[in-house]
Amino acid sequence: MNKRSVRDLDVGGKRVLVRVDFNVPVKNGQVTDDTRIRRALPTIRHLLENGARPVLISHRGRPKGEPDPKYAMDPVAKRLEELLGVPVLKLDAAVGQEVEEALKNRNAEGGVVLLENSRFYPGETKNAPEFAEQLATLADLYVDDAFGAAHRAHATTVGVAERLPAAAGLLMEDEIDYLDKVLLNPERPFVAILGGAKVSDKLGVIESLLSVADTLLIGGAMCFTFFKAQGFEVGKSLVEDEYVEEAGRLMNEAGEGLVLPVDIVVAKRMEETASAKVVRVGEIPENTMGLDIGPETVERFGEHIMGARTVFWNGPMGVFEIDAFARGTEGVARAVAGSGATSIVGGGDSVAAVSKLGLEEAMSYISTGGGASLEYVEGKELPGIAVLPNKEDA
Ligand code: 3PG
Repeated sequence: MNKRSVRDLDVGGKRVLVRVDFNVPVKNGQVTDDTRIRRALPTIRHLLENGARPVLISHRGRPKGEPDPKYAMDPVAKRLEELLGVPVLKLDAAVGQEVEEALKNRNAEGGVVLLENSRFYPGETKNAPEFAEQLATLADLYVDDAFGAAHRAHATTVGVAERLPAAAGLLMEDEIDYLDKVLLNPERPFVAILGGAKVSDKLGVIESLLSVADTLLIGGAMCFTFFKAQGFEVGKSLVEDEYVEEAGRLMNEAGEGLVLPVDIVVAKRMEETASAKVVRVGEIPENTMGLDIGPETVERFGEHIMGARTVFWNGPMGVFEIDAFARGTEGVARAVAGSGATSIVGGGDSVAAVSKLGLEEAMSYISTGGGASLEYVEGKELPGIAVLPNKEDA
């Protein structure tokens, strides 16, 4: 990576504002997947070991620019303290008098400070100069370790980086290095697997994966827009009518490079108790919706995956949160784990499926980025990375 690294900074005695991506799922006050917290630990430890005073900031969820207790950072602070083994002081604000006072009275041995959710402030997502300025006054240096949020041009990812000496954290470096190493020159065959609900979100990435991968397997609800383009009946399945034509064009251009499901799990309702059945594509009953890929598709996708030397997977194959519609995603997870290929998995649901099945160790790399890793693969410049100075500028 060509960006200035936290290792290039002299952090001793300095207050360092660290942008982390602690956008983690929480249920009943407990963090249910701490992957993103664990992955930020090396940077935090590096700073502590070198005598810095880390002040961490992250968003969580999508609150509307004002405090919303549902998205407070307290559960994250608790889990971080358990994992880090040093005290974590969680503040109830991210900027302002109260924060400045709390930071002033701390010495280098005081552990770590975690600020409140950055999206409790309207200036965050607007990258408002006043908010970025307020953040910048809190620290001497800025380190960005939030690869997962690098596709957002927000105050904590861009505005503050323009106002303080800035560098990439160790996780940010690791993500960029790994994605570059594997995806710029992949060992072939290179099989990409894409899931998720909407074609509209993924058009760019579908195009770019079709050009770099040998085969693109598409599952998730977005396949129904492709089926509609083929003239199939899709019942009540999710379809984006305005993208049907585009889906048709992509299919024509890709030919055999794009592989769609051949069978689908359908039900009348998206509920655990709804009775599910497997039907052939083209035979989806009018009063049902497709909620997962079927067993024959899992087998066919598995054959492609088993023959691959490189696999990139992002997005669930079905409604993975509901057991009855999780088998497609689990089947793909098992195939990727057993393939022996260099494998990169990104995106909350795919990563959750991998960890639920205990298959993390079988994957070559688990990216903490969902949208960010997709945009990176698409070849887009991510604002949170672009803003960081290059090594030679250091
Ligand atoms: C993610 O979960 O992909 C990142 O934390 C970004 O979150 P956002 O999509 O709400 O900006």
